[in-house]
Amino acid sequence: MAHIVFVYSTVDGHTLEICERLRQVALREGHQASLQELTADSEFDLEPFDRIVIGASVRYGKHRPDVTRFINENVNKLQTTSSAFFSVNAVARKPEKCEANSNPYVKKFLEGITWKPSLVAIFGGKIDYPVYRFWDKTIIRFIMWMMGGPTDPNSTFDFTNWEKVDAFGHEISTFQ
Ligand SMILES: Cc1cc2nc3c(=O)[nH]c(=O)nc-3n(C[C@H](O)[C@H](O)[C@H](O)COP(=O)(O)O)c2cc1C
Repeated sequence: MAHIVFVYSTVDGHTLEICERLRQVALREGHQASLQELTADSEFDLEPFDRIVIGASVRYGKHRPDVTRFINENVNKLQTTSSAFFSVNAVARKPEKCEANSNPYVKKFLEGITWKPSLVAIFGGKIDYPVYRFWDKTIIRFIMWMMGGPTDPNSTFDFTNWEKVDAFGHEISTFQ
């Protein structure tokens, strides 16, 4: 049995939802599993954990700077522990943009850090127009319109492939 920590960086909670699903898979497979939010001032000790998973969403073309800071501060532990990274973004709803070598955000992100996670996954995000504030809603609708995505301001679109999430949870539970 391993003690796995799921560290997540989220704005609207979808990355947390994915972490919770991954955690449930890990628990079912007999592991101990904890959740830890990553924010600008969060400081916590990764030493007690023997598997580390970091998940982060993309807003306006980037993962938040706290994610890079946290990874750089903990790179030695990450590099010497079984570790995984996953990203959540709307572009990944397209099958040809949901792998580490085809998703532009993840390619750039991994090139900018020294940590080489053993596992990487990318999941389509959730577009929840009714909860966004005016400017976020307007801009994300424009971006979606440019990318051929849905723009109905009264609707919510969950692009996450939950079977892929479960499969990743299983991989996390079994890799060494
Ligand atoms: C204001 C805003 C900006 C976003 N920018 C991008 C973007 O640049 N690229 C992209 O692929 N997805 C973008 N997204 C989609 C998010 O990645 C998606 O909603 C994700 O599920 C958010 O996860 P979170 O709730 O954990 O933050 C954006 C969403 C919002 C609301």
